[in-house]
Amino acid sequence: MKKKAFIFDLDGVIVDTAKYHFLAWQKLAQQLGIEFTHEHNEQLKGVSRVRSLDIILGLGNAEASQEDKDTWLKQKNEDYLTYINNMDESEILEGVVPVLQYLRQNGQPIALGSASKNAKPILEKVNILHYFDAIVDGNDVSNAKPDPEVFLQAAQKLGMPAQGAVVFEDSVAGVQAANIANMVSVGIGDAAVLHEAQYNFKDFTEIHTTFLQNLLNN
Ligand code: BG6
Ligand code: MG
Repeated sequence: MKKKAFIFDLDGVIVDTAKYHFLAWQKLAQQLGIEFTHEHNEQLKGVSRVRSLDIILGLGNAEASQEDKDTWLKQKNEDYLTYINNMDESEILEGVVPVLQYLRQNGQPIALGSASKNAKPILEKVNILHYFDAIVDGNDVSNAKPDPEVFLQAAQKLGMPAQGAVVFEDSVAGVQAANIANMVSVGIGDAAVLHEAQYNFKDFTEIHTTFLQNLLNN
């Protein structure tokens, strides 16, 4: 069987932490008197913490000092950490583990490619870290998605070519990053939102081994 790099985003792909990011940002937005809806939240998915705050401030046409921004970023992360503190294996999204197991059993290299600086503790909490041959997260990259840096580093760490690597993503920015890197973008979530993805699935329960085999044969 051929080998390809399989790269997974974390938030919203492996675990449903996207909802916790949303709640923590929404709390801050409310505090700042800025309206922040689920629709606005799509712009934040896959985007770094610092950039996310700038987007929220932009929604309210608000400007802030660096000092205030630092305080709010710290607060948002503390709130987020209280949400993820109690996470366990039950929060792994349905269908993810069978896909990881299939790839492992077939000797495929697997990496995490996430913008989050909290990625490793989350993988440990949900007891899934052992599936990954390489981790690239928000601590490793300087250019956020849609810049392809995170996925290029992931392929490199796996010792695999970027071209043809397969990326599972729930964010518009992440799908764009995968496309720019000449990777195969697999959108997980709303196909209308992720219309730039090469393939779309509602969630991992829709991803069958025949699809993975076809990817490997191409
Ligand atoms: C991405 C999320 O995975 O990580 C974003 O989709 C989040 O919503 C980003 O802002 C950074 O995460 P963290 O945990 O470092 O604040
Ligand atoms: Mg995501």
